[in-house]
Amino acid sequence: MLELIQVDRFFGHFQALKQINLKVEEGEFRGLIGPNGSGKTTLFNVISGVYKASAGQVKFLGQDVTGFTPDKICHAGITRSFQIPRPFREMSVVENVMLGSLFGKGTKNLAPQEPLAEALHWLEFVGLKVDQHTMPGELTAGNLRRLELARALATHPKLLLADEIMSGLNQEEILQASKVLKKIREELKITIIWVEHIMSALMNLVERVTILDYGQIIAEGTPEEVSRNPIVIEAYLGEEETAGHA
Ligand SMILES: Nc1ncnc2c1ncn2[C@@H]1O[C@H](COP(=O)(O)OP(=O)(O)OP(=O)(O)O)[C@@H](O)[C@H]1O
Ligand SMILES: [Mg+2]
Repeated sequence: MLELIQVDRFFGHFQALKQINLKVEEGEFRGLIGPNGSGKTTLFNVISGVYKASAGQVKFLGQDVTGFTPDKICHAGITRSFQIPRPFREMSVVENVMLGSLFGKGTKNLAPQEPLAEALHWLEFVGLKVDQHTMPGELTAGNLRRLELARALATHPKLLLADEIMSGLNQEEILQASKVLKKIREELKITIIWVEHIMSALMNLVERVTILDYGQIIAEGTPEEVSRNPIVIEAYLGEEETAGHA
């Protein structure tokens, strides 16, 4: 479904991504981990068109999408949630999700009331209870992350790039977020690539894990296989409880 071929990304002289080759199959639930600054968010930015690859190719569903702008990528069926939630603060929570459905895939001929119905549907799907006047500023950290997910789902993606959606959440919220991810996978059949530092949650849910280190993919395997990797042990052992990490 998604294929990256020899992707590089430079910021000035600094190379944030080095010769990334990555294949993700339709329906997969893939974890992407690595130490701080290893290039995980940059990889999402390149896939979602926020940054252009400096070299290499990004292919999605057989189409070369390298250099597509974020709106074109979104229409192709890729959506992402941001590591730091970015709601439009002057719009209500419901309106924020409506924007997702207005900009998303296959929603060109919506009747006027449909974006509202859609928004309410996705808010319910992620378990976020608000009324039509609730503003993003009133939401807890956990609920802001739910809003990110609802907005992303409203675009009707085929591939969801989820960037640290559990960062800053408490134990109970982590469990709830895990359930939402499971539902996205099982009910909506959306392919997911998930960047997360909360290893216990990630290793429980994903089927395969890719490890980035200094901008390079250094290993890939099942959760069991990668949890024996020295870099994973070094980067995450003892960090497990630092759920507030960002
Ligand atoms: N716009 C940018 N300009 C310059 N350098 C950047 C930019 N974006 C990212 N970088 C650098 O690229 C490297 C990778 O950053 P990135 O945000 O992708 O890491 P990450 O793996 O997501 O880390 P974290 O786990 O802390 O979120 C870092 O050294 C970062 O400083
Ligand atoms: Mg990041």
